[in-house]
Amino acid sequence: MNLAVLISGRGSNFSSLVDAQKKGQIGVADIKILISNNASAKGIDYAKKNKIPFFVLSDKEWESEIVSLLEKHKIQLVCLAGFMRIISPELINFMKGWIVNIHPSLLPAFPGLNVHQRVLESKFPFSGCTVHWVDEGVDTGPIIDQRVVPVLKGDDEEKLSSRILKEEHKLYPSVVKKIADGDFVPFFMEEK
Ligand code: GRF
Repeated sequence: MNLAVLISGRGSNFSSLVDAQKKGQIGVADIKILISNNASAKGIDYAKKNKIPFFVLSDKEWESEIVSLLEKHKIQLVCLAGFMRIISPELINFMKGWIVNIHPSLLPAFPGLNVHQRVLESKFPFSGCTVHWVDEGVDTGPIIDQRVVPVLKGDDEEKLSSRILKEEHKLYPSVVKKIADGDFVPFFMEEK
């Protein structure tokens, strides 16, 4: 199963997927390309180091270029990993729903930005991370899998986010493996 990973910044989830593939932990999934909408995204360095072809598309050229790039590389699953752009209905249709995202909260709680700050303010004792199918909303698509992470006394945003990030790095490869194994199909495919 050919994968494209889309990032906008640090790229630690991208790196964890690459490492998981090297260890044989994502089954038949194969990371073919990295695409960033930000030329200075740190994650690009890891693509270079691992000889994974990468492409930078500016926001201006995004809509006109993304589909042909995915088509050219025969991409079967798109993994959003810290990708800060809304996915268009055209792209969702082109991929027939085969787009997943990772979000650092227990969705449907705390979608959107500034997640950890809002979780801490809520005094909720748990947070976590979620991988979900991407629909036209922001962090609203059907949930595939989640991991719960406790909020501890003395947590600040940095402590909580790094505890959650460790779980993200395990959750995303495990979900990608299950999708590649055929255990999950996109939400609207199930209805057909
Ligand atoms: C992660 O917390 C992810 O859940 C969210 O954005 C962050 C990206 O981190 N969507 P990284 O770029 O993968 O390091």
